[in-house]
Amino acid sequence: MLMQEGKAITFTSNLPNTLAASEEDSAILEILGGQRLSGHVTISGAKNSALVLMAGALLCPQECRLRNVPSLVDVGRMGEILRALGVKLERQGDCLTLNASSIGESRAPYELVSQLRASFFVIGPLLARLGVARVPLPGGCAIGARPVDLHVRGLQAMGAEVQIDHGMVNAYVRGASKRLKGAKIYLDYPSVGATETLMMAATLADGETIIENAAQEPEVADLANFCRAMGAKIWGAGTNTITISGVPSLYSTDYSIIPDRIEAGTFLVAGAITCSEISLSPVVPDHLTAVIAKLQAVGAQVITEAPHRLRLIPSDRNRATDIETLPYPGFPTDMQAQFMALLALSEGNSVITETVFENRLRHVAELNRMGANIRLKGCNAIIQGVPMLSGAPVVATDLRASAALVLAGLAANGKTTIQGLHHLDRGYEQLETKLQKLGARLQRVKVSSDSSKDPALKT
Ligand code: EPU
Repeated sequence: MLMQEGKAITFTSNLPNTLAASEEDSAILEILGGQRLSGHVTISGAKNSALVLMAGALLCPQECRLRNVPSLVDVGRMGEILRALGVKLERQGDCLTLNASSIGESRAPYELVSQLRASFFVIGPLLARLGVARVPLPGGCAIGARPVDLHVRGLQAMGAEVQIDHGMVNAYVRGASKRLKGAKIYLDYPSVGATETLMMAATLADGETIIENAAQEPEVADLANFCRAMGAKIWGAGTNTITISGVPSLYSTDYSIIPDRIEAGTFLVAGAITCSEISLSPVVPDHLTAVIAKLQAVGAQVITEAPHRLRLIPSDRNRATDIETLPYPGFPTDMQAQFMALLALSEGNSVITETVFENRLRHVAELNRMGANIRLKGCNAIIQGVPMLSGAPVVATDLRASAALVLAGLAANGKTTIQGLHHLDRGYEQLETKLQKLGARLQRVKVSSDSSKDPALKT
């Protein structure tokens, strides 16, 4: 673990939560399915907020403190990128202190950026603070090509000169002040990352910026709240029009990150797929409206027991439903794979349409290995519910796909083994421990010729 109770730990590149993918690839997750779950789960801070808020700390020439920061491989990687730019980081429990008072470097290292797409987001705050930023193109990833054209066009509209040479985005602001200029920007698509990049860039720009067709995700609003806590002037975050009035500089703050709605959604599906009653907190129920609506369509009940606490009461016969992924407040693409596992075991025919990422259905083949009946037609997955899945060896193809395989394994008959755990470790804090506390039987085992012959979990 990265943190130890009550002890400050400085970010260094050899921290365990930045384990090389190859090390985690040598482990597998063994799940013995068919156990009912019960009890309560504590939800961690939101990964996608933590990543962008860490980048946002570059805007501030004083020390900032973030609380409720999850301990994840991706957070460790973002920490390394910031450290390479000259930020001092210190972690104590879930509290991360970032000091960007003397960022000396405007160039983010390719080896780190290529491992974490979200690290491209440093381009906005670097350009705003220094008037120059050099960030490698992050490239595609397991779920799609993921271009950054919207980020670049928005920065150009704010007066940045941007050249892309040899895979490097070189951006700078002309003129003595090196200050970006406020602009009216319409995004062709409500990209989360582009909205965040441009909002951060605009906080220190000269004049007013309006972002139209902005992403409305809760993580965008969380970033705006963090920037506002540092003195930025931002209105409308969480709606499709965000207005930012640039200020000359920001100041220190202490800010707590929102709960992870995707982790919460994943646990709600864990309850539904294993027909188990569980509760979770802290959550913001409003962030889960689309997910809760689809759980209700399947037959489960989701009760708000307290303002930040939900209880899932499962149905013993889940029903089919159709889902289309959309930008928030639509159904999140980050919950698509987990619902596919659930619908694979629900009575009737469902269709899932993935509209956000072009290559985010690779878990279909793995679920079919477990006995699911899913056909792919372009971006549509046609799911014919089956009464039972059977445990099988499967491979995680991306972060949310790996969560879907864990959920399928919890419900399946017999033993499932999952390879490719580096995907899972990018985005779920202590998933195994949390599931074990609910009564699930699963454990991570190092793969060696011995362990594969003598599996640790006996059926
Ligand atoms: N897009 C462009 N051009 C751009 C930017 C985006 O064409 O300049 C396209 C993308 O290729 C994609 C679509 O727009 O097809 C949506 O991408 P978006 O920019 O909204 O996503 P992102 O910022 O790259 C964040 C999350 C993702 C989450 C998406 C959608 C972070 C670090 N990542 O990505 O999270 O799926 O928003 O909600 O915030 C995950 O956690 O598993 C994950 C992938």
